[in-house]
Amino acid sequence: MAVDYSLLERQLVALAAADSDPLALSANFVALLYAELPAINWLGIYVTRGSDLVLGPFQGMPACVRIPFGQGVCGTAAEDAVTMRVADVHAFDGHIACDPASNSELVVPLMTDSNVIGVLDIDSPQQNRFTEKDQMGVERLCQVFVGQLQFGQETIRGFI
Ligand code: SME
Repeated sequence: MAVDYSLLERQLVALAAADSDPLALSANFVALLYAELPAINWLGIYVTRGSDLVLGPFQGMPACVRIPFGQGVCGTAAEDAVTMRVADVHAFDGHIACDPASNSELVVPLMTDSNVIGVLDIDSPQQNRFTEKDQMGVERLCQVFVGQLQFGQETIRGFI
């Protein structure tokens, strides 16, 4: 089933129309994607706290709370400020296994200018679940989401 990323973008924009509270926006962003992306078992945000990532709004099983920059798939995406699309997490040296059901993973850094304010992490029980099209679609949604957080500068400093 192909995902209609432009429809998801319009839904994301509509969800932010009523209120720009960052916690509410984050929770709805995560819930929208978890509901609409097929074959995933975990989706959530880790927020930058100093040189760590700390668990934020998510859907799925309870997960590790704190991930230092540079560790695991999430910490690598945050440290290098690049998207990590991992076809087989078991072949990724340093992968942090929160849910043993996860086999592939897509992690997109949430960027304001050059700052990584967090990451969006998506896990799938399928190997090689995420295509380049998924990567580009989710990266675009993350850009829109971060733009929503920047309705006010104070919002971005107090992200979640
Ligand atoms: N697998 C991630 C950890 C987060 S969980 O998947 C929710 C990682 O290696 O960074």
